[in-house]
Amino acid sequence: MSEQSGQELYERIPSRIFDDAQAAVCQIAREIADAIRERQAAGKGLVLGLATGSTPVPLYRELIRMHRKEGLSFAKVTTFNLDEYFGIDARHPESYHRFMREQLFDHVDIPAEQINIPEGMVSREEVFEACQDYENRIREVGGIDIQILGIGRTGHIGFNEPGSGPASRTRLVTLDRLTRLDAARDFQGEHNVPRYAVTMGVGTILDARKVYLLAWGRSKAEVVKAAVEDAPVESLPASFLQQHEDVSFFLDTAAASELTRNKYPWLVGFPEWTPELARKSVTHLSLKLGKPLLKLVDKDYQENGVSELVTEQGPAYGLNIRVFNEVQHTITGWPGGKPDADDTYRPERAKPSLKRVLVLSPEPQDDVLAMAGTLSRLVAHGHEVTVAYLTSGSLGVPDEEARWAADLMREAGGSELATQVLAELDEKSAFDEDSVGLRRFKSYIRRNEARAALQLCGLEPDRIQFLDLPFYENGRYRRFVTGEDDVSELSSLLQSVRPHQVYVTGEAADPSSVQAKSFSVFELAIQKLQSEAWIKDCYVWLYRSDGREWDIHQVEMSVPCSPDEVKRKAQAIYQHRSQRSQIPVLDEEQREVWEQAIDRNRATARFYDKLGLAEYEAIECFVRWHVTQDSAGK
Ligand code: F6R
Repeated sequence: MSEQSGQELYERIPSRIFDDAQAAVCQIAREIADAIRERQAAGKGLVLGLATGSTPVPLYRELIRMHRKEGLSFAKVTTFNLDEYFGIDARHPESYHRFMREQLFDHVDIPAEQINIPEGMVSREEVFEACQDYENRIREVGGIDIQILGIGRTGHIGFNEPGSGPASRTRLVTLDRLTRLDAARDFQGEHNVPRYAVTMGVGTILDARKVYLLAWGRSKAEVVKAAVEDAPVESLPASFLQQHEDVSFFLDTAAASELTRNKYPWLVGFPEWTPELARKSVTHLSLKLGKPLLKLVDKDYQENGVSELVTEQGPAYGLNIRVFNEVQHTITGWPGGKPDADDTYRPERAKPSLKRVLVLSPEPQDDVLAMAGTLSRLVAHGHEVTVAYLTSGSLGVPDEEARWAADLMREAGGSELATQVLAELDEKSAFDEDSVGLRRFKSYIRRNEARAALQLCGLEPDRIQFLDLPFYENGRYRRFVTGEDDVSELSSLLQSVRPHQVYVTGEAADPSSVQAKSFSVFELAIQKLQSEAWIKDCYVWLYRSDGREWDIHQVEMSVPCSPDEVKRKAQAIYQHRSQRSQIPVLDEEQREVWEQAIDRNRATARFYDKLGLAEYEAIECFVRWHVTQDSAGK
């Protein structure tokens, strides 16, 4: 079986994988530019189908750059957007009309009359006709030449939620719960997210001559895999793209990580059996068969597609023991290193026995979600722990919370800021963004929550820093742009602490997220400090706060939590009250954030138990990022 045919066996949609989103969008932008120029040379125009959301933002930036620097003209381009929220005015900050103006149209030379976006403000009575009119307009210009798509976690394309068939056309649809949850931050709470939208149908999309679907970040990995490899079903509308003759997926490595060629490379060819891949394959086999590592036999390997590994590195028992020991050695109750112990097989160094530890949290709460147990241990073991919040998190505070706090302050004697906040909230319309004062007030709420949470981890308030990085203060969700001032603030902090250990997150997150932006600032800050002596002695530990844990074979440090530590962790997360659901969750299916975090740590502990290692209540996991490696990171 050649590598190519093995891959094709699984993948029903051609998928192109890039190191990062930027590399992918450069390629797509070049292809779009070539198509525009080719048509232009023949005196014709090009029809583009466009998407909104965070995914295409870097593509639009690249097209704007090409317009400015390379003379790419949009004068003969006609565009059709996929969708718009129903009942949302074009001026609303979250309307797709406004998004497209801000992200693309205001910066290129496209004539206004060549822009088409479904209308969100028509009445229920008129909407059917408006949708038909949209379809007619597409037909009149000769159809869409290139359609750009993102993909939602429900598997939607456009707003074709699960249940949308391949023949569906432009229409009014009800948004899925998960889609509304994903938009909740942008709308400051799920209850503000529209329930309906107007969207091109799956059939409308399939009529485009060429389709490019873009996906970045780990949160898209499962849905991408299902769309590319599983049979087409209405419960995952993106899977109908398999029926298209000219479709390509453009993915970054994180979004492609669940594809069989990456997840189980031994099933598509003959991989190089590195220790990490062997660990992956053996732990996977153990969990799949429900057999502890040390009970796997040669036959198990042979019958499950990994006979090559056991032939090369077997017999099974030796391989089992090697992997068992590797996993066992990741477990430590001493995340800062165990003083005076032999550290040959420990994740952290014994010396210095008391370390300077810097925990970087992109927004308040990332830290405790992922590592409240580890943090408490570091403090209890006497290390000099500093927690720094990179951004204020003010955008994540719903107006209701600000009103609650400001009301309380007014009752207690008042303050000028509280009075201003209440006045602003009274007058605020759906189109208004928060003033600087309101954002400041909201950031105080998050500061207090963060302090309360860290107090439960044993940390004194003077060990907490709030950096309020400018990229966040000057930006909006999904549209942050980092700069030199962010990097220099973080590098000054690093330089002043000179940590032996740094904990940080965001390396595989959606590139538009606060976590990913924060990580890119961190990478640049580290690069800047590369020649500092302390950096050579600094271990960087990556944590995950986004609800997706590392795979077991990747983990390099696992810190168990006792039942009491788990309780304390739940309490610490619970202190972030502005981040709790604003409406009580009565649905068994939907767990609150703190419950999800604990569930995840308990699930990790169960994995270790199933592998035949010790049975703990819960486990927090970390992977080492090597400071001296290139900036691509791990
Ligand atoms: C946007 C659209 C949606 C998004 C999808 C992914 O016009 O139709 O299908 O592409 O929800 O959203 P992001 O890119 O924000 O993850």
